[in-house]
Amino acid sequence: MYHLIRPLLFKMDAEDAHEFIKKSIASLPSTYRFFCRENYSKAQKDLRFTQKIGDLVCPYPVGIAAGLDKNAEMMDFWRHFPLGQIEVGTVTVRPQEGNPRPRLFRLKEEQSLLNRMGFNNDGSDIVLERLERYRHRYGWKSGGPLIGVNIGKNKETSLEAAHREYALLAQKFKGVADYIAINISSPNTSDLRNLQSADYLENLLEKVKEKAEGKTLLLKISPDLTLQEVDEIFSLCQRMKVSGIIVTNTTIIKEVGVGGVSGKMLFERAKIIRQHLLELNKGNEQFSIIGSGGFSKVEEMKDFWEKGGSLIQLYSALIYEGPGIFEKIRSCMLS
Ligand SMILES: Cc1cc2nc3c(=O)[nH]c(=O)nc-3n(C[C@H](O)[C@H](O)[C@H](O)COP(=O)(O)O)c2cc1C
Repeated sequence: MYHLIRPLLFKMDAEDAHEFIKKSIASLPSTYRFFCRENYSKAQKDLRFTQKIGDLVCPYPVGIAAGLDKNAEMMDFWRHFPLGQIEVGTVTVRPQEGNPRPRLFRLKEEQSLLNRMGFNNDGSDIVLERLERYRHRYGWKSGGPLIGVNIGKNKETSLEAAHREYALLAQKFKGVADYIAINISSPNTSDLRNLQSADYLENLLEKVKEKAEGKTLLLKISPDLTLQEVDEIFSLCQRMKVSGIIVTNTTIIKEVGVGGVSGKMLFERAKIIRQHLLELNKGNEQFSIIGSGGFSKVEEMKDFWEKGGSLIQLYSALIYEGPGIFEKIRSCMLS
């Protein structure tokens, strides 16, 4: 079905198309039926697919990456698909406009996207309210998708003060989220990625842990790190009892333009880091490697999963393929 409307959507500005889909879903719940051909609850109940992430049980190894539903506005919609996880955000303490538009571009030939959104979001109060309503509707029943809240700092907050905002956000969302994803790897907030250096990261994780009070924590890293930097982050995460790493955020490719590149053009770079981390983490079931970045072929997803990856998060593939990709993934996983 998506292939029928995609040519129309692709004639629109990429962000307008996203807003259009979001509004249609919100105003016309029957739109769900247009996208959903069957009830997927069975896929989520198949124990072969169950994954552990920290102390959590993730019912299915495919989820939605941060950025697609930044403000938790499509939560009901996602429940119609075989998804083990939905990550909302990045949410900042205060609402934020983000960078001037246009700030999202399709690289159609490459099945990739370039974005410089800059953490545009409704702010933590509003997103918290929406998630409270979601929990009120569905509760915390096991078997449903895990809800992650991806957190970041406001644009004007200095790197030195950033840990306070991350800690506050962890405290605020721990009552509604299954896990908190700490985003220190977006290329679109000036210097944010410096928070990946041990000088900042150790203190930041310490402060977040204090306020998160046992909530599962994940760290989202950049694909533009050296493998040595990845090693250091991995050791620190082990020491600080973080439950896993999301590998990776978008990459900077100067020739493509200002912003972060996702989709196929990111795949090889992200894969190197994922493989490196899977190797480092071999045999350690207490720590999860979560894949994000460039997944477009279901065989690639299955390969990552079979090599020990816990969960695959999608964004760009959904823009190019539509939700029909979920059924393709499910068939491939079952084969
Ligand atoms: C338009 C857009 C907005 C994004 N916003 C966020 C965000 O707010 N926080 C975050 O951690 N990642 C964000 N991402 C990165 C995605 O979560 C994902 O890591 C990245 O796109 C790589 O996956 P993909 O190749 O499947 O798209 C965004 C990506 C895109 C394309």
